[in-house]
Amino acid sequence: MNQNLPKFLLDKNLIPNVEINPDLNFLGTETAFGFGAEVIAVENSKKFPQIYKFHVGDTGPTTPEPIINTAIQALKDKQTKYGHYLGYLQVRQNIANYWSETRGVKIKPENILLEPAGKSVIEMALQTLITPDDKIIVPDPSYPVYESLAEFYHHGQILHWQAYKDPEKQNLKFRIEDLEKLFEKNQNIKLLIINTPQNPTGMMLDREILEQVAELVKKYKFFVLFDDIYDQITFGGRKHFSFLSIPGMLDYTVNLNGFSKNYAMTGWRLGFIVAPAWLIEIFGRMAINKWSNVNKVQQIVAGAIYGDVDLDGHHYPSIKDKVQKIINQDFVEYEKKGGFVSEALNLLKPYAVCNEAEGAFYLFPCFQKILDLPYVKNELKIKNDVELRNWFLHEKGVAVLAGSDFGQMGRKHIRFSYAEDREKHIIPGIKHILKTILELIKKSNITPPFEVDEVDNKVGELIKKYFD
Ligand SMILES: Cc1ncc(COP(=O)(O)O)c(C=O)c1O
Repeated sequence: MNQNLPKFLLDKNLIPNVEINPDLNFLGTETAFGFGAEVIAVENSKKFPQIYKFHVGDTGPTTPEPIINTAIQALKDKQTKYGHYLGYLQVRQNIANYWSETRGVKIKPENILLEPAGKSVIEMALQTLITPDDKIIVPDPSYPVYESLAEFYHHGQILHWQAYKDPEKQNLKFRIEDLEKLFEKNQNIKLLIINTPQNPTGMMLDREILEQVAELVKKYKFFVLFDDIYDQITFGGRKHFSFLSIPGMLDYTVNLNGFSKNYAMTGWRLGFIVAPAWLIEIFGRMAINKWSNVNKVQQIVAGAIYGDVDLDGHHYPSIKDKVQKIINQDFVEYEKKGGFVSEALNLLKPYAVCNEAEGAFYLFPCFQKILDLPYVKNELKIKNDVELRNWFLHEKGVAVLAGSDFGQMGRKHIRFSYAEDREKHIIPGIKHILKTILELIKKSNITPPFEVDEVDNKVGELIKKYFD
């Protein structure tokens, strides 16, 4: 019997009756899902009238109607059999046209593969590109699935591009000099994973830093898994800059993208990869082995979002303009909520220090000084961000994620998602959080930045500023 069982089986007291792959010990998880189940359990226990949800990386809005209608039509047309393993040519052509237009580089259908959501490409890139001598760079903090799968397949081969933490401002920043050092000190780096706009921080990598990364690609010849799944969700006039827009970089890029976030289609599981044609050829063969094809209805939807689709004698008109109009409104709402949450948390300075919302729908405030409060440390005996997250859920009915679930550099941070409904979760939830933290400060015998009974007025001013 294999004694070395992964902790997630042991925790559930599930013991297999055969030897299993010991590498499962290295497989992590995405806490948003595991902790999400805990949130539902507390919600169902009815301990609190309501759980304020800031933990989910899911979209607040639901899928735009024209997308739903196209899918319904495709189902009525009985488009229910196997589809093309790469994605129908016209569908990939439509995506390629859009990508060429928005990235300013010629993308062809042979550079595209449809996949069941953006996530699938992480595993395929790790399975195809990495040899036992190769190293992979994962940003820290970052979306936990990169680290989890890289550890599972290639433990011992992972390096971290750690965000720099400014000791004064307490905010995080990815600096090129820290990345350069990794290349100077290590051989055989094959893959760098980057993500912008970023989960968990909500920060963006600007053109300059991506161009510097491209210089490193030219010098050291490695691949970039470029995850821009939140590419359209950007704020304050910022424009997303694609790594593919840098001349020559298509040859070195595996671009993860999809419909989950921009189009509010998380539950559909629909994504696509943009990569050099030879890699798409390999990924296509893997797709045949893994899932055969993305379901046919979804293929039609994916195509119609960018142009007309004609399939098996049926015509599906482009819904591009209608959909874009709808999602642009979603982005405006995200921007308002992001500004509101960031500024509201910063009212608690120096106890909470929050970054500016640049994109996606996340913020990553530093709660170090809250963890250092005597009452928190000595009375509540909360030692770290994970315990603080648990306390918030079980004692205060607030669901957030712990920063350290996203990497070492996330320690003492809390990840806030502000995707949820403004009236039901964001506004009342923020008031509740501010009051809770002010009480923690008071119970530590420290004068708070303002009084609990000032919260409603202060938040009221921010509501006027962001939502009126
Ligand atoms: C940075 C990042 N990449 C990829 C994904 C996966 O998205 P999908 O739903 O397309 O699998 C997520 C989802 O949360 C994400 O935050």
